[in-house]
Amino acid sequence: MKKHNARLGPQNNSRIMWDGFRGWRIRTGTNRSRDPRAPNSRRLGSSDWIVNWRGPVSRWSNAHKKSQSGGVITSFPCSGASMDERFLNERLARRAESNALRSLHETRDLVDFTSNDYLGFARSSNLREMVDAALRDRPDLPLGSTGSRLLSGHTQLHAEIEEEVATFHRAESSLIFNSGYDANIGLFSSVPQRSDTVLYDQLVHASVRDGLRLGLAKAYSFRHNDLAHLETRLRRAVGTCFVAVESVYSMDGDCAPLREIVELVQHYDAYLIVDEAHATGVFGTEGRGRVVENSLQDMVFARLHTFGKALGVHGAAVVGSRTLKNYLINFARSFIYTTSLTPHSLVAIRCAYQQLARSRGLIGQLH
Ligand SMILES: Cc1ncc(COP(=O)(O)O)c(C=O)c1O
Repeated sequence: MKKHNARLGPQNNSRIMWDGFRGWRIRTGTNRSRDPRAPNSRRLGSSDWIVNWRGPVSRWSNAHKKSQSGGVITSFPCSGASMDERFLNERLARRAESNALRSLHETRDLVDFTSNDYLGFARSSNLREMVDAALRDRPDLPLGSTGSRLLSGHTQLHAEIEEEVATFHRAESSLIFNSGYDANIGLFSSVPQRSDTVLYDQLVHASVRDGLRLGLAKAYSFRHNDLAHLETRLRRAVGTCFVAVESVYSMDGDCAPLREIVELVQHYDAYLIVDEAHATGVFGTEGRGRVVENSLQDMVFARLHTFGKALGVHGAAVVGSRTLKNYLINFARSFIYTTSLTPHSLVAIRCAYQQLARSRGLIGQLH
């Protein structure tokens, strides 16, 4: 890799560019004829060179690692842009060099092996019609929510749907966030305090880790689904101790041993938080999640249910006690300092739950 790392010309004014389906390219501003150190380069215009950076370049495309090493990376003062963005381009170039550059692709007209639309709700014409009809019945609903829930953005609709979500997941209450990411950020940054300990499975979602980074508690990972390691950590925990797991892990689709974890957590007087993002709509009667499936709802401090995966819409809710809800309304900054979900998103969430309640057969087919 390194030996291909030639620089293209003295002025070094190059840009990294996405070139349709041909992948990432390094656009340089040199005037020189074909550079012998960049055999894949070709002339673009009077002063531009394209150096082929063979794609796809995504974090997961290890299979292509070798074939990508023919690319040439330069350093990047911007040609043509009004601002000097070298500090961005240099980091992007390093990502490209290690085949970890992320990019956005539309995935229409492909067979879906990757999305979280487990029940096909996101593309369901039936759900679409339900949402359209429900919106037609409510011409009074504004297009936007106009502000934070704590100011102008709270409506009766929010309150009703939070009740419905709580009832469905057998909880005392629920609080809707704009996304699962926001919900985890709010929960993990606000609930554990400086003197507390959070123990999290090493494979928990980035949103849990990011929430912990914003908070003040000490946080330690334990080996994935390793009860003995969790117990070692529990023995050493100080302050109030929280344990964070996913009920179904997003990367491998394996399940946490929830009953055993609950036993341990109870033994050490800790509080269990279960992210049910990938179990919502998929596990338990009518998709209520693995906590309800195992009748553990009274032993779990907080659960996260997201609406953007099997439910096919958008948003998320933290479900738990009324006290927890009140606490989050007061302290979760990702709840407080943001414009609340739009009324049409709320209507879509309600309709998705209604469709879920009628989808036992479909859910059964997943197992
Ligand atoms: C386990 C888990 N938790 C939380 C989230 C965040 O949810 P959302 O996509 O609604 O922000 C995700 C999404 O990828 C997830 O996989």
